[in-house]
Parts: sequence; C-alpha cells; structure tokens
Amino acid sequence: MKEDFYEEIVLSSEQIQDRVAELAAEVSRDYAGKTPLAVGILRGAVVFMADLVRHITLPIELDFMAVSSYGKATKTSGVVRILKDLDEDIKGRDVLVIEDVLDTGLTLDYLMKYLGAREPGSLEVCVLLNKQLAGREIDTKIKYCGFEVPDKFVVGYGLDFKEHYRNLPYVCTLKPEVYRAQ
Ligand code: IMP
Ligand code: MG
Repeated sequence: MKEDFYEEIVLSSEQIQDRVAELAAEVSRDYAGKTPLAVGILRGAVVFMADLVRHITLPIELDFMAVSSYGKATKTSGVVRILKDLDEDIKGRDVLVIEDVLDTGLTLDYLMKYLGAREPGSLEVCVLLNKQLAGREIDTKIKYCGFEVPDKFVVGYGLDFKEHYRNLPYVCTLKPEVYRAQ
C-alpha cells in the first residue's frame, strides 16, 4: 500500500494499543464475576474488538450485528436497517456494544433502543472514537470511549473509505485527492 494517501496521522498505532489495553482493564474490572457478551457492529468495529477482547481477562462471548442507514432521507429519523441480527438471546445478559465511531449518534441510538427492548441484564457501549460534533442531536450514554476526536472524516483501524483502509494499524485523515480519485 502506498504511504502517500494520508494527510495526517490522528492516532498512532502505539496510542491506540495503549488506550485499548486501558479500556480492557476497565471492562475487566467493571464486569468482574460476570460473562459479558460483546456485540460488535460490523464491519468497522472488528479491528478494535479483536484487540480489545484479547486484553480482557474475563470469560467473554462475542456476537455481531450488521446495520445500514436508510440513507440521507431518513437521517433525521435515525432509522437503520438490520442486515444481520444477533445469534444469541440477550435476555438477562450483560451486553457490551462495540462500535468504531460515534458520529451523529443516530445508529447507536437506534441500536440501544432495539437491543434494550430484549431486556438484557445490562446494556453499555464501548466506542473507539467519539467525534466532537457540534449540534449532535442525540446524546447516547457511552460508558467506555477510546478517544475524543475532531469532527473530521478518518480511516484506519477498522474505519473505511469505500471499504478501503480498514487494515491500517493507525487512524488518519486522507489527502483530498484520494477522495477525488475514487
Ligand atoms: P452515526 O449514526 O452518524 O453515528 O454513524 C456512525 C457510522 O458512520 C459509523 O459506524 C461509520 O460506519 C460511519 N462513520 C462516521 N464517521 C466516520 C469516519 O470518520 N470514517 C469512517 N466511517 C465513519
Ligand atoms: Mg463505513
């Protein structure tokens, strides 16, 4: 992969790994004696989740959901389409939703209502990036947050631009010509 695609490295691999280990220690402490179910939101959360759970010292189960926004017209309604639902029954379970980035918060807000209706024992969120978005309409309660980042489009460590760059070990912004080229 060419190295001339990025504009700025927002979070280095070392910064991310250090923070992921800290988050995992917090989770391990908070859920002591329990077997939480980590629910990764495909596909962006996969890289973060894979690293996070390997630092967690508890028995932990993994499940996944895939969602997609209905598009711009319904952005304000926050309606998302469930492309893949959970395989596990979450009633009474300690569910920890793992997300890559909280942008408008609409996706997560919808998911929390959707999952909350299934009566989990507890339902919390662990997000890698929380964008400092002016005028975010929805304030989803986030228990674990990796980094507060500026409201810029970023890629890497699971986050994509047109499905590319998810495998970068760091988080970066792209050069404007990269957007124009694709
Ligand atoms: P929200 O409902 O606006 O919070 O949408 C969050 C989703 O939008 C994430 O799960 C990502 O798929 C996508 N997204 C938001 N910001 C970025 C970004 O900076 N880079 C890549 N994907 C992003
Ligand atoms: Mg995406």
